[in-house]
Amino acid sequence: MAEVVIDGIAYEVNPDNNLLQECLSQGLDLPYFCWHPCMGSVGACRQCAVKQYRDADDKDGILVMACMTPATDGAIISIEDPQAKDMREKVIESLMISHPHDCPVCEEGGECHLQDMTLMSGHNYRRYDKKKVTHRNQYLGPFINHEMNRCITCYRCVRFYDDYAGGTDLSAQASHHHTYFGRYDEGVLESEFSGNLVEVCPTGVFTDKAFSENYTRKWDLQVAPSVCTGCSVGCNTTPGERYGSLRRIVNRYNSEINGYFICDRGRFGFDYVNSEDRIQVPLVANGSDMEEVPAGELPPAIESYKGAGVIGIASPRASNESNFALRCLVGHENFYSGISDIEHEATQLILSLARDSAFNTPSVREIEKADAIVVVGEDITNVAPRIALALRQSVRNKAKELAGGCNIPIWQDAAVKELAQHDRSPLAILSSYATRLDDVASDVVIDSPSKLTSIGSAIASSISDKAPSGNSNEGVVSRIADQLVNAKHPLVIAGSSVGNIGLIQVAANIARALNDKRNEAIDLCLVVPEVNTIGMSMLVNNCNTLGVALDKLQSGAASKVIVLENDLYRHASYTAVDAALDKADGVLVIDQMPTRTTAKASTLLPSTSFSEHEATYVNYEGRAQLSFQVHRNPTAAIPAWRWLSEQQRGNIDALINRCAEEAANFEKLDDLLPDLNEFVASMKIPRQSHRYSGRTAMKANLNVHEPKQPVDDQSVMSFSMEGIPVTSDIPVLGAAWAPAWNSNQSISKFQDEINGELKQGHTGEFLIERNESGDYLDIATPNVSSNGLQLAIAYQIFGSDELSAKASTIQQRMTDAYVAISPSDAQSLGLNQGDEVSIDGNRHVAVACIRSKIKEGTAAVYCGDNDIDRHALGTTIALSKMVGENLYRGIKGLIVSDLYEESY
Ligand code: SF4
Ligand code: SF4
Ligand code: FES
Repeated sequence: MAEVVIDGIAYEVNPDNNLLQECLSQGLDLPYFCWHPCMGSVGACRQCAVKQYRDADDKDGILVMACMTPATDGAIISIEDPQAKDMREKVIESLMISHPHDCPVCEEGGECHLQDMTLMSGHNYRRYDKKKVTHRNQYLGPFINHEMNRCITCYRCVRFYDDYAGGTDLSAQASHHHTYFGRYDEGVLESEFSGNLVEVCPTGVFTDKAFSENYTRKWDLQVAPSVCTGCSVGCNTTPGERYGSLRRIVNRYNSEINGYFICDRGRFGFDYVNSEDRIQVPLVANGSDMEEVPAGELPPAIESYKGAGVIGIASPRASNESNFALRCLVGHENFYSGISDIEHEATQLILSLARDSAFNTPSVREIEKADAIVVVGEDITNVAPRIALALRQSVRNKAKELAGGCNIPIWQDAAVKELAQHDRSPLAILSSYATRLDDVASDVVIDSPSKLTSIGSAIASSISDKAPSGNSNEGVVSRIADQLVNAKHPLVIAGSSVGNIGLIQVAANIARALNDKRNEAIDLCLVVPEVNTIGMSMLVNNCNTLGVALDKLQSGAASKVIVLENDLYRHASYTAVDAALDKADGVLVIDQMPTRTTAKASTLLPSTSFSEHEATYVNYEGRAQLSFQVHRNPTAAIPAWRWLSEQQRGNIDALINRCAEEAANFEKLDDLLPDLNEFVASMKIPRQSHRYSGRTAMKANLNVHEPKQPVDDQSVMSFSMEGIPVTSDIPVLGAAWAPAWNSNQSISKFQDEINGELKQGHTGEFLIERNESGDYLDIATPNVSSNGLQLAIAYQIFGSDELSAKASTIQQRMTDAYVAISPSDAQSLGLNQGDEVSIDGNRHVAVACIRSKIKEGTAAVYCGDNDIDRHALGTTIALSKMVGENLYRGIKGLIVSDLYEESY
């Protein structure tokens, strides 16, 4: 540690950081724009000027930029020095010369870092009275609005979009006071992380387009801490609601998971919550019709879903509580997995590896520290996007290492980049097709799924001769093996989305070989597709597969089934699901939106969405997290666990406690629950800000008297602005806000240090203990027929997740089902780009996408929004051209496919 004197007070600081970061860590107010806690310093805005003194006798000092000055031991600085204050005020005045001052109509207003810094700097009078520089705005796609006139040229947007997130279609153009931040040609922003521009830009240049269509000020949003349900990463978010509709989602800082950034699926994939298509009342079948159950009544059939002959099918997108309530109702032995059999097997393998002390499952923060990585078969950007963003940071560790060798602080962003140029830490990708991370990969091995397992095995045996040998002599094998062996923090990544157990086994063997070699736990990251795949799988008996459940129904061994928030047609072949559900005497489905499965229900019950109930989910690490209810659902929808609990009553805390007591490995689940008795005077945490307005006006068309706010007896949060004020020592952080800090940058007031843990502390509870030791795995080799093309399943960030695919914002970026094949296969099959093709006869129709970076003999199939019956496909498929129109330029959302074709 070092000691720095700031305005006469001595502070203990970290000498590896710069003065700005350390001032903020100490809770001091110092304005800044271009510095970002995750992106370091470039000294572009000159806003963070402070006075630095040579020693205690130096009375003059010099002005320095705090973000560009190391916090060296003995440094003496002043934030309050009049010259420094004057400089900060003048700088902001000059930055705002062409600013439109349109706060009243700007969507950033009220949560604007520029507003906050302007006030903090004391600039309050505009002297410039000449013509302002103005710009034309661009259309940037369905997610982001552009208002360039508000720009203060801090360069944060391009530093995030290009340098941090690897985008290539946003840049700083022109120069001087004409600098323009946008695309070369207007069009859809291509990065999967474009939504972060809304939070990274300190002004209102980039704003949330979907939010602007149904806008409200930040202080009028009702909010609560939530967890994204878009994938298994479990990023922390803050959804905001107003007048009964969910308006937006923003990032919620979690030091171990998402940090400051989330992906566009998580940010924009929520508006199905507001959809008129939501199931709103209980419905029961009467002949071929579904009839509504009168308000206040329960469907009479519900009572018959108890006792012998009733089975329950779980859900990877439902909470632990709903899955557990279903298990309690039908009995553990009648509770079945809600994912495909192959995914179930893969997930059970992942769970067994999660108990193996040879490995460590890294958090996103730990992934960023990796300095040699191999990805085995998983398309991380499309399956677990936030991890892909972390991988883009891990390849920069080489640059940081080089900088360390030259005594360049790693926060000196431009210098570090300049030094490293294109020198990156090794990232090897074994995949069946080109992926979005290939541009930062040191090796990309594109091959068929079966060949990838051989190459992976060869890497493992090249690291340790105890590993089962693989069958590949390629030079790339020893190169990847050497890189992993010689790294400080090697990382192996795979997952279950591709439906190939062999690839997970190979990844485990590579990690075990490293464990043998290095005698330390190795980071093994195994991702699964859905938010609670891990939690659900921990509750299900290993042998209770979905296939067994469907067989029982079809054979009559079970007569009735309860399907919990799950479209079974996404997890088993259409014919198997049809045969089972058609045979059942009763099909009770609980869900939020209509699906192919709800259409088969004899009793259909509406359930609440992620923002309408409190729930826990377990992410890919085995980390359980608590997500709070943001707003109420005005319809008859209730949390699924309530439908399944005795007489639909009960308390979520009691259910979590019961799950912790009864379900193996869930012992720590109730540690997530905040204890109201430990709060100040047992006061609750308000969901509404202290500036929340319009409570009386909200229902003025109905009644001018202010209605009583509903009482939330289920939670430590209240549906009002009353409760514990937002201070750094509150036990649950609903929304970050601090005096003079209205933007998302106020989070620094709640961190124990910049980029550190929140003072509230909770980053989740790990449910899985590593106390077992395993061994090398025999690699499963699927029977691959020599006829046809080897199948590789492709995922898409926009479309593969069931619920976000129902969000209208996401639908604008979705791609139709396609089959990607190599040019030579296309030629031999007589296919052109965009031809409509049938797979295995006429059963599945997709569009041919001819890509240069796919192995001959392989077909990558993206099933669209369940347009193709994925589970009816074998390990090889046959393609034939259908007679019809060439669809290439007509594929909805083709930008995604185009990117793959043109970027690599
Ligand atoms: S657009 Fe925003 S982030 Fe980009 S330079 Fe301008 S003010 Fe900074
Ligand atoms: S990475 Fe996954 S959890 Fe995180 S925001 Fe995206 S979809 Fe949500
Ligand atoms: S924040 Fe220090 S120069 Fe911009």
